[in-house]
Amino acid sequence: MVTRPAPYTAGIMRVPRIMRVLGIETSCDETAAAIVETMPVADPDMPGRIVSQVVHTQLADHRPYGGVVPEIAARAHLDHLDGVIRQVLDEAGLALRQLDGIAATAGPGLIGGVLVGITSGKSLALATGLPFMAINHLAAHALTARLTVPPDAPLRFPYLLLLISGGHCQLLIVESVERYVRLGTTIDDAVGEAFDKTAKLLGLGYPGGPAVERAAASGDAARFPLPRPMVGRPGCDFSFSGLKTAVRLAAARLPTDGGPQDIADLAAAFQEAAAASLADRTARAIELFRQRHPEGAALVVAGGVAANGAIRRRLTELAERHGLRFVAPPPVLCTDNGAMVAWAGVERLRLGLVDDLSFAARPRWPLDPSAAPAIGAGVKA
Ligand code: KG4
Ligand code: ZN
Repeated sequence: MVTRPAPYTAGIMRVPRIMRVLGIETSCDETAAAIVETMPVADPDMPGRIVSQVVHTQLADHRPYGGVVPEIAARAHLDHLDGVIRQVLDEAGLALRQLDGIAATAGPGLIGGVLVGITSGKSLALATGLPFMAINHLAAHALTARLTVPPDAPLRFPYLLLLISGGHCQLLIVESVERYVRLGTTIDDAVGEAFDKTAKLLGLGYPGGPAVERAAASGDAARFPLPRPMVGRPGCDFSFSGLKTAVRLAAARLPTDGGPQDIADLAAAFQEAAAASLADRTARAIELFRQRHPEGAALVVAGGVAANGAIRRRLTELAERHGLRFVAPPPVLCTDNGAMVAWAGVERLRLGLVDDLSFAARPRWPLDPSAAPAIGAGVKA
């Protein structure tokens, strides 16, 4: 249930000048928290400032398994979350009662971890009497770009968003804090998953995205002519399983234990093909965005894969060609973090969108509930 508390609604009530929210993120393998503030609160497009943030990554816990193990993740969140929240408050020099709200990721994600974060958030809200905001992890990625732009150049709705992470690959129009129109999604793997699987295949370790990007930096992408998935096809959907198979076949043809240059060339070819596919799909989405919102002025990229330099460069060129402003959060705010959740909390609280403490965790929680499931899509959240 969503309620609108009096202090932040428009009208005769006094709107506070500054607003600070604690955000908690535990939906995958980062135990993270942050405090984010904005001022003045009355301006619904004003960006924010990160007061303090801590990300405790569980990479070392999951590395032996080559991927995230849900049960290990949930236990690690339980072990670390209290300390992470304490550290965030200490670094900010703030007590809980000096905050204006508590936000926690309520889904989608690994349910064990989400439960740890949402329960902590609700408990803190209950103990302090502060408003509680249940945050959609994808919405938090989607809104992060509005946190980091300069105050004299706010990012206004609507904007076109390419959301690329380990579990998601979508093109969406972000029309408001609460309204998202999905234009395309993946019919099989997410692009981050393809990076991770390619890294595993090439023996580049975990997590895959940054490892592939590092290897690709000294590679020759032209050496392996890999397919460009979906390029030229109608619509804005994605597909990455064929590219993954093509990498596997190319790797199998290498002499045993391909040398570092072979690996670098294959990583570069994969990254190039993935970037070309993302750019082609996004170009189509720009047409649809323009039809629906002729006033729309920005292309935004978000999610862990948005940290990739080659993909950012591709999208920068694409936006320039179409006369759109390109906005990408700094790479550290592309991968999962607490600031994105705290910021989504600010965005909701300043509109008076507060949730009841009975809000239940949602392992699946699409941003555009009216969008049909993609043909062939798996069961990922
Ligand atoms: O958003 P995120 O931190 O978690 C999810 O919500 O999924 O995204 C993680 C994904 C992983 O697949 C990771 O390999 C990928 O983002 N990633 C990258 C890079 N950094 C992280 N992919 C390509 N290049 C990178 N530099
Ligand atoms: Zn994420």
